Amino acid sequence: MDHFLIEGNKPLNGRIKINGAKNAALPIMAAALLVNGKTTIHNIPILKDTKTMITLLQSLGVKVETKEHTVIIEADTITNFKAPYELVKTMRASIYVMAPLLARYGRCNVAFPGGCSLGVRPIDLHLKGFKKLDVDFHIEKGNVIGNTKSLKGGEIDLDFPSVGATANLIIAAVLAQGKTIVSNYAKEPEIFDLINFLIKIGANISFDNYSIHIKGVTSLKKNSSYSIIPDRIELGTFGMMAIATKGKVELEWNNADYISSIREKLNGLGAKVYLSDDGIYHFEYNELNGDINIKTLPYPGFPTDLQPPMGALLTLNHGVGIIDETIFENRFMWVPELERMGAEIKKDGNTIIIHGKEQLVGAPIMASDIRAGAALIVGALAAQGNTRINRIYHIDRGYEKIEERLSTLGARINRSNE
Ligand code: EPZ
Repeated sequence: MDHFLIEGNKPLNGRIKINGAKNAALPIMAAALLVNGKTTIHNIPILKDTKTMITLLQSLGVKVETKEHTVIIEADTITNFKAPYELVKTMRASIYVMAPLLARYGRCNVAFPGGCSLGVRPIDLHLKGFKKLDVDFHIEKGNVIGNTKSLKGGEIDLDFPSVGATANLIIAAVLAQGKTIVSNYAKEPEIFDLINFLIKIGANISFDNYSIHIKGVTSLKKNSSYSIIPDRIELGTFGMMAIATKGKVELEWNNADYISSIREKLNGLGAKVYLSDDGIYHFEYNELNGDINIKTLPYPGFPTDLQPPMGALLTLNHGVGIIDETIFENRFMWVPELERMGAEIKKDGNTIIIHGKEQLVGAPIMASDIRAGAALIVGALAAQGNTRINRIYHIDRGYEKIEERLSTLGARINRSNE
């Protein structure tokens, strides 16, 4: 099984481009099924999750062509309406195909995603919202089977600003009859990227701070093309790796400052993080000092996906870091792995208290999910000595060729399968 071998204590220096956002690409690729024709999507990160989505679309009878970071989706022929368990269990975002299948064909048969290492991961908000659009569901042998004569617009007030439920429901509402209002929606940049994509292909969508308003249309534009926004989670992850290794990197980004909450926290500890006018995000090490409190929140709060890499960085801060994880019930799987490297972390329910230390020491450790894996790389790159990270298939789900790109910044990281 593939693993990473990392020789730590080498500062990251240099410049790389940040890839397209995985969590925008996945809903947008699914939303392309709304179009009875061809859609071209640029800046797609080619990683395990987007490859899984391509496999899923092809299993539905959709023609998908990939050229570098461009994916061409031709959805005029959908012959299958089932998202099988073997795909859904590896990637929860497979449930995004529910929306276009219900919208165009009035039916879907999608395996219940089941839990993952982050927690139970229910889809009750998705199903509750679809019911408001006149969908009937029943569960059969672990599959969610949805039927509707035709989607009708409705008023949906989300109990929680769920990213996935927001995406699924606005995709479905695009072709529903009449008007749909989704209130208390998720405001992550990837949601607005999806909205911009939908508008580009002809959807009628407007929004205010509390609700999204969608007026159903009867047809969408063929032969549209769209380019995905860059990945703010990759940006923050690589930036934290640079600071952890006492380095200085320039990350090719754009002019949207999606990570101001992280920038403020890192600068507050003494690092030098800023976005220059030419769209380059700069991360430069200075000694990290001071106590810090972090609480993960829906956007624009501190993103839960950057909690693990940030926690790993704080194991090297001269101070006490307290992190409250409010989004997922089990997102500290990276903690015992970094403790194996000498990190001093106390866990109390959904809060951890980190007492920073001068140095971590390399050791064999194991990834458990995408962002926990990223946290292990942060620790390993900074540590004294060598680290072997097992189960890196988790990391490959969310980062494209991470070892090649970190190597161009001076990291000593190799993939091996001996
Ligand atoms: C998306 O997951 C992201 N995945 C996650 O990134 C990210 O951590 C998460 O949003 C929060 O920002 C993709 O976009 C593919 P949620 P999602 O629905 O949609 C509960 C990564 O590493 N909930 O906002 O699943 C849920 O259990 C991944 O790239 C319900 O209770 O997140 C969780 O506690 C990890 N019922 C909370 O809401 C529901 O019907 C947030 O979930 C749906 C969610």
